[in-house]
Amino acid sequence: MSGPREIRIDGTTVRRPRKPWTPTIHALLEHLGAQGLPVPRPLGLDDRFEYVSLVPGLAGDDAWPDGLSPDAARSLGRLLRAVHEATRTWIPPADAVWSVPSTPSTPICHGDPKPGNVAWRDGIAVGLFDWDAARPGDPVEDLAYALLWAVPVDVDPDDAPLSPAEAELRRARARALLEGYGWNAPIDVVEAAASRHEQAIDEVEWLGTHGHEPHATWVTQGWPTTWRSHLESMHEAGRRTFPVPLPR
Ligand SMILES: Nc1ncnc2c1ncn2[C@@H]1O[C@H](COP(=O)(O)OP(=O)(O)OP(=O)(O)O)[C@@H](O)[C@H]1O
Ligand SMILES: [Mg+2]
Repeated sequence: MSGPREIRIDGTTVRRPRKPWTPTIHALLEHLGAQGLPVPRPLGLDDRFEYVSLVPGLAGDDAWPDGLSPDAARSLGRLLRAVHEATRTWIPPADAVWSVPSTPSTPICHGDPKPGNVAWRDGIAVGLFDWDAARPGDPVEDLAYALLWAVPVDVDPDDAPLSPAEAELRRARARALLEGYGWNAPIDVVEAAASRHEQAIDEVEWLGTHGHEPHATWVTQGWPTTWRSHLESMHEAGRRTFPVPLPR
């Protein structure tokens, strides 16, 4: 997903559009940084923008040209777990604002933990940025979201069925991610990913109808309808790769 977000990187400073929830996110990042977590350091705010530090590492599509290795997926699970645990000791400001409606609880989920929001070094997750979607939530929401994009569970309905080797690689990524996180319960990867995807689509619509970008543009362009129409084929194709819940 990309859109008119006016993100500028100048040396080691990232300038991003300021949102109503940015002060809350900065308070969270301050706490996580103080716990030694590899997240952007908040550097300041003005009327239009927030400024945070660049997390060192490789980011963008170049970071995983052939998809993630199982070790990379494991490291992402480990990082996500460390982040969730570190949020448990954070006391949010009394006037905390989040990008989506939420009720106070712990942990705080990142909300958008796809490989594209991770900094990588030698194929290992070494940082997590783009915290706009953070909110109090159930850890499984972040885990499901990471599975959705890191395995990936999502499919293009026009694609040919996966080869047996690719399907096995995706199962290996999913197992590794869950292992890295320390997830000890059976999980239906397809169901979890699809339901988090549906929630994400709802959230895009909510943000779009409240005038936030890039979501408003995506809504105008009809993307939520397209994504929703893919959910069924994602379920069917995912079920071929993950016929039963992954046992732990
Ligand atoms: N703090 C950061 N540390 C390292 N790289 C960053 C950081 N912030 C942004 N980037 C780089 O800039 C790119 C765009 O920034 P960001 O992820 O914040 O927005 P986006 O990708 O437009 O949002 P979305 O993830 O919703 O598509 C990232 O993919 C990454 O390459
Ligand atoms: Mg991003």
